[in-house]
Amino acid sequence: MIQKINEWFFLMVDRYMHTHYGERKQKLLEGHADTLVEIGAGYGANFRYLRPGTKVIVIEPKSSFNELLRRRAKYYGVEVEIHNYGAGTMNLKDESVDMVFGSMVLCSVENQVKVIFEIKRVLKEEGKFVFLEHVKAERDTWICKVQHLVKKPWKWFFDGCNVNRNTGKVIQNAHFRKVEIQEFNSRTLFVPIIPHVCGVAVK
Ligand SMILES: C[S@@+](CC[C@H](N)C(=O)[O-])C[C@H]1O[C@@H](n2cnc3c(N)ncnc32)[C@H](O)[C@@H]1O
Repeated sequence: MIQKINEWFFLMVDRYMHTHYGERKQKLLEGHADTLVEIGAGYGANFRYLRPGTKVIVIEPKSSFNELLRRRAKYYGVEVEIHNYGAGTMNLKDESVDMVFGSMVLCSVENQVKVIFEIKRVLKEEGKFVFLEHVKAERDTWICKVQHLVKKPWKWFFDGCNVNRNTGKVIQNAHFRKVEIQEFNSRTLFVPIIPHVCGVAVK
């Protein structure tokens, strides 16, 4: 019964995420590598944007997602290798991967800088970090005020999610060779996560 409720919940979340971010994710992942690392893959929301036959090295601390991850991987025709730990220390060799992808993850990790430098460590020269994240709003805007008001209950309710991180700036300051970044507002009713960034950082 609990499993059925869980699956129903993720199906609803999946529809919402796909409607709001599908087109953008598709574009970001256009021409993606044959093998890529996805950090914080959750239940596998992003497998639908990958070519069948792609190998995804999933870095996801919660093993409770493993079954759903495997089922969705099979459905979308991708191969998964699941690592159940955080992206701050990945059991992957230096300069061994062409692409790392993450959506809505850097809001939840404990230490963003550590994760970004770990991503840089595993990326090959010219390798790409592709990201889509919600971020802190501009200072003194009404959204920024809302973010400030709700940040604590939001973090508690949404499993460690921080609504007011300057993720775009952190990526820009991480000494990638090149960073292409776009800011956009999502048309969502969840006001604290309206401002977003997405883009590609090249090592
Ligand atoms: C908001 S969910 C996003 C899931 C999925 N990427 C998406 O876009 O729907 C955040 C995910 O990051 C995972 N996470 C939290 N801390 C992490 C860490 N240190 N390293 C990797 N993943 C982490 C959580 O377990 C969760 O699955």
